[in-house]
Amino acid sequence: MNYPDYRPRRLRQNDNFRRMIRETTLSVDNLIYPLFAVPGTKVKKPIVSMPGIFQLSVDHIVKETQRVKALGIPAVLLFGIPERKDEIASGAMAADGIVQRAIRGIKEKAPDILVITDVCLCEYTSHGHCGMIERGEVANDATLEVLAETAVSHAKAGADMVAPSAMMDGQIGALREGLDEAGFDTVPIMAYSAKYASCFYGPFRDAAESAPAFGDRKGYQMDPANSDEAIREISLDVAEGADIIMVKPALAYLDVIRRAKEEFDLPLAAYNVSGEFAMIKAAAQMGWLDGERAMLESLIAIRRAGADMIITYFAPEAAQSLAAT
Ligand code: PBG
Repeated sequence: MNYPDYRPRRLRQNDNFRRMIRETTLSVDNLIYPLFAVPGTKVKKPIVSMPGIFQLSVDHIVKETQRVKALGIPAVLLFGIPERKDEIASGAMAADGIVQRAIRGIKEKAPDILVITDVCLCEYTSHGHCGMIERGEVANDATLEVLAETAVSHAKAGADMVAPSAMMDGQIGALREGLDEAGFDTVPIMAYSAKYASCFYGPFRDAAESAPAFGDRKGYQMDPANSDEAIREISLDVAEGADIIMVKPALAYLDVIRRAKEEFDLPLAAYNVSGEFAMIKAAAQMGWLDGERAMLESLIAIRRAGADMIITYFAPEAAQSLAAT
């Protein structure tokens, strides 16, 4: 069909037409909200590069979880900043570690929301890398055991799902085996499968106090230039038992999200990361962008690319604005 027989504007004339032919939806059901747990009580410390996001002590984490639960958000994703960091990330798998305490706090006071935990070591190591250091390098296989033990400690504390983000080869298999052996065969794994070495994690590293003390993460996170490799990474995770696969970051990697959606039939998550949040917030504060519209347009773009769920710092704001329309 060609113009003038076909006039696409006919179905754009008013909002009812537009609603009727809309191809993609964004719902509160799609949103996962990240939270940063810190030691202490009554701590609510703003993260300067992420307006509206705070480091929260467990009492505040519980309150914040109750608030987002009331907005209809189905899940939170927990990160922790421990009292002390050391070479071997002891704080990551401690039974009374910060994330483990936060899980128990939430489960006690707000049981009806999913608690997903990020399983990584960079917040817990004194060197800020995501694994064990051997001869100045991040050692893959020595890290697997530590990651598995961390995941099991989260499950023991009551986590509903674990999300390994260290980008070690074999980490999904190691976690699955560790969880199954410990009797947690019902706990799913959300795999950060295609996680890129991205500058868009900058604000997060302020929030999680996890910037590497030497070098960078390019030896384990993916090169932004690659997408065939993302497919290989995801295939490995699927074979090792991932229940949900993830592409991270989201906005600069919409093509990768689309490929992942087409090539795999597992639920697909995308992580709308800290830098993506910060850019919109900064432009909105300057009066250069309409912050709410930029947020909703970005989130619908991530859904249109193929993500079933979106991890985003915008989750509560997006839930509010969806409820208002
Ligand atoms: C842990 C981890 C990071 C993020 C999620 N998990 C940081 C990193 O890899 O350096 C980034 C999240 C964000 O930027 O919002 N490894």
